[in-house]
Amino acid sequence: MQKHIWLSSLILFFALGMGWSSQAQVEPTLRELGQERGLRMGAGVSHFRLFNTPAYVDLLTTHYDIMTPTTELKMQALRPSPGVFDFSRSDEMIAFAQENDLDVVGHTLVWYLSMPDWLENRVLSREEAIAILEEHITTTVSRYRGEIYAWDVVNEAVSPDGTLSQNIWYESIGPEYIAMAFEWAHAADPDALLIYNDYDMEINPDKAQGVLALLRSMLAADVPIDGVGFQMHLTTWEELDLEALQALMEEIGDMGLQVKITEMDVRIGEHEGTREEALEVQAQLYRDVMTICLAVEACTSFTTWGFSDAHSWLNESGLEDPLPFDENYNPKPAFFALQSALMGVE
Ligand code: G3I
Repeated sequence: MQKHIWLSSLILFFALGMGWSSQAQVEPTLRELGQERGLRMGAGVSHFRLFNTPAYVDLLTTHYDIMTPTTELKMQALRPSPGVFDFSRSDEMIAFAQENDLDVVGHTLVWYLSMPDWLENRVLSREEAIAILEEHITTTVSRYRGEIYAWDVVNEAVSPDGTLSQNIWYESIGPEYIAMAFEWAHAADPDALLIYNDYDMEINPDKAQGVLALLRSMLAADVPIDGVGFQMHLTTWEELDLEALQALMEEIGDMGLQVKITEMDVRIGEHEGTREEALEVQAQLYRDVMTICLAVEACTSFTTWGFSDAHSWLNESGLEDPLPFDENYNPKPAFFALQSALMGVE
């Protein structure tokens, strides 16, 4: 017996020394804690990692119960040429999710970026644009009817000044493209949650007012919208007004809509001070946003855009380290901050 304890300690000592985290260190998992608090815990994921990196899959399936493919359901990925759909990678990801007891968020049906080459910079008549968008939404949402629990139907349609963006869909169809997209998505899968997703509402009051105005007009017209996604791409060096954020989320909740944190990450690259200080500020931001989400009844999911610093759209330089696990998949202060916020511990 003595020998066993000694041996385990020795293994743990070497494991920690080599940078491996023991399961004990990361329990309880975010997934378990989220389920206890009625909050879905999510991560943005890539097809390549799901099928090539076992340690990535381990961490994903341990800590999360929803996943968002970060590029594979965008128009650019699904639509190689007019009238043609390529669902090969998204089908594999959805099968993976089902095998691993994760729900899938569909990201995203309508965005002015990540467009296929054949659509980029094209001038479309109103009829052409409506036909393309309707076909895209109806075919995609119908294919995954009952298999995608929430869709980011429209992404980033409001400009920083609060007006609607003058993008290809606005210019060819008019502002009603947004309502149309939600109607087509609802007709194709009446049970999917339909989300409007955007960034910077938490730091730009004009943008927040623009999004609120859009939501009011949609609700007044009975457009089938269920919630709002706050992307939450934050930095450690920009001020975040926590009271204003909570008030905004509550206002959206009072409209009868859900609130979702959809793409959170926190850059540290330009932080003044040591790396340790930056990681502490980062952890505090994760804690604060989680605490607000738990306090706002309407907040139903908390998703980060990736989970390991090894795979982040922001971390090509290796300086931003924006996620809760480091590049070796070890938990960072940000992970423990999320864990303790979920446990209600200071
Ligand atoms: O799929 C090709 C691959 O075949 C090729 O080998 C490789 C070479 O560069 O490029 C791959 O595509 C890239 C794709 O990411 C997958 O890595 C695209 O060029 C690149 O533009 C794409 O970037 C994504 C970006 O959206 C644009 O779609 C990021 O991964 C993704 O994290 C980012 O996510 C957005 C959200 O959708 C909306 N909110 C902001 C967020 C960050 O920009």
